[in-house]
Amino acid sequence: MSESAAIVARNLSRQVEDTEGMLTILDGVDFAIPKGQTAAITGSSGSGKSTLLGLLAGLDMPSSGSVHMLGHDLSVLDEDSRARLRAAHVGFVFQSFQLLPHLTALENVMLPLELAGKPARDPARRMLSRVGLDARLHHYPRTLSGGEQQRVSIARAFVMQPSLLFADEPTGSLDVATGKAVIDLMFALHSEHGATLMLVTHDPGLASRCERQIELVAGRLVRDSGADGVQASG
Ligand SMILES: Nc1ncnc2c1ncn2[C@@H]1O[C@H](COP(=O)(O)OP(=O)(O)OP(=O)(O)O)[C@@H](O)[C@H]1O
Ligand SMILES: [Mg+2]
Repeated sequence: MSESAAIVARNLSRQVEDTEGMLTILDGVDFAIPKGQTAAITGSSGSGKSTLLGLLAGLDMPSSGSVHMLGHDLSVLDEDSRARLRAAHVGFVFQSFQLLPHLTALENVMLPLELAGKPARDPARRMLSRVGLDARLHHYPRTLSGGEQQRVSIARAFVMQPSLLFADEPTGSLDVATGKAVIDLMFALHSEHGATLMLVTHDPGLASRCERQIELVAGRLVRDSGADGVQASG
């Protein structure tokens, strides 16, 4: 089954130590996302959505349970191997953008291409143009608005045409029209390249545009529209 699955989460839990003791942020989350599916992760603030997305993308490691990405068990890979897998397959739009402050918009988007030894300048310009930032190529992040930084972050995630695209509130800082343009771009990447999309969103309209809806409450999966159709384990 892992052959056809983009991501499989099995009994995924994450705990952190805080001043009061152990805090459970995610608790026994199980699901499988088939390749090419579009999935929305919803839930109120603090329910564990960003934590879950980071685990699914291999950016963080669970306290227990496992994530399989394209058939690879992330828990048996070392950090270098996980980084290679991410570089080859994953685009990630962070809720907090995570742009490099000493690089311009264009240089931020060129970076993943350069690291992969690919031509960078023209594809990066084209992607920034698709998110409406032709006039901001040489701006540094601190001189960009929140919505502009978000679009640079989206362009950086898309420019490698990743097969797995994770986006944490990708339209959270955008006005309605720009948000719609960015969402259309994500779904275009999905249909042009068969990319698997996993989106965290508070927007019911965006969630319902996805084939799959997964809802968290206090770190537990309480609703999975695909639970009957897809085996999470086996
Ligand atoms: N490293 C950490 N140490 C302590 N608590 C943490 C840590 N990371 C996350 N948390 C807590 O875990 C809970 C879930 O955080 P997370 O960022 O995943 O929520 P979220 O669903 O993405 O929320 P939002 O919609 O506000 O972005 C929050 O209560 C948060 O304070
Ligand atoms: Mg979050």
